[in-house]
Amino acid sequence: MNLEEIKKLYDFEGKSIIITGGAGILGGEIACALVGCGANVTIMDREPSLADRLMERFETLCGRAIIVYGDVLKRDTLQQAAKQVLQSFGRIDCLVNAAGGNHPRATTTHDYLFFNLDEEALLFVFDLNLLGTILPSQMFGKYMAEQNEGNILNISSMNAFRPLTKVPAYSAAKAGVSNFTQWLAVHMAQEYSPNIRVNAIAPGFFLTQQNRFLLTDKETGELTERGKKIIEHTPMGRLGDPEDLLGAALWLLSPASSFVTGTVVPIDGGFSAFSGV
Ligand SMILES: NC(=O)c1ccc[n+]([C@@H]2O[C@H](COP(=O)([O-])OP(=O)(O)OC[C@H]3O[C@@H](n4cnc5c(N)ncnc54)[C@H](OP(=O)(O)O)[C@@H]3O)[C@@H](O)[C@H]2O)c1
Repeated sequence: MNLEEIKKLYDFEGKSIIITGGAGILGGEIACALVGCGANVTIMDREPSLADRLMERFETLCGRAIIVYGDVLKRDTLQQAAKQVLQSFGRIDCLVNAAGGNHPRATTTHDYLFFNLDEEALLFVFDLNLLGTILPSQMFGKYMAEQNEGNILNISSMNAFRPLTKVPAYSAAKAGVSNFTQWLAVHMAQEYSPNIRVNAIAPGFFLTQQNRFLLTDKETGELTERGKKIIEHTPMGRLGDPEDLLGAALWLLSPASSFVTGTVVPIDGGFSAFSGV
């Protein structure tokens, strides 16, 4: 492979890429990077107006972006979103499953014990993270199977490797996402095409809407004890910045990783490598 071919690996011109939860912090950042690399990006979210803040950034980039409504837990809205993507861009090349998150009522505290965790909140977390990755993979993966090529990128988490305290459902659900990533990678390659790859990234700790209540104090904005502990256990000594995800996300979505499938790549400043001593 010559230098020109290597440089082209990250050229996404004309690629149609859907990002669920694309109005969120991490999904939104990945969307901007992809539009910057020439992709046609569909931001799908259950609250599309939250993505309006991204439109200004898109205007100066070379790809195109549309924002559509879609709830990862409602098949009919996914079907509708798929129609809109096909109308706008004609095909579906990649899916980024970025919708996900935790719930305060599924999180233990000193006063709110594991034994009392609310069943509905537990189900909400399982569904949003695991089912919310499986249903879009079914809906959009089917188009990839028909065209014999495609690429799915899931978002797992540190707690998939070893569960984090306080968040039992979120930990179990993300372990499920990592497991499903491996399962689907094998299934797509064996049953449909080796040109359909499925991988995941496992971000460490990034301050966003879904974990702000755990990492920072609502009144002062200072790091909580948990936030401080996380930084102490991160050899690189800081929280992640959404931009830290971009290199790995682009790599996994591009032909640069053409022989990589079924992996979960930690992006965590060394958190998962550190034994604490
Ligand atoms: N932040 C971290 O440190 C971290 C670490 C590891 C993994 N992750 C994972 O990274 C992914 C992105 O999270 P984030 O930190 O960027 O959080 P975020 O800013 O809250 O983004 C998540 C997005 O998903 C949307 N969403 C929620 N339920 C949905 C549904 N049923 N259908 C469609 N969209 C839905 C949210 O919309 P609403 O605002 O309306 O709920 C939000 O726009 C998640 O899977 C998260 O678990 C995050």
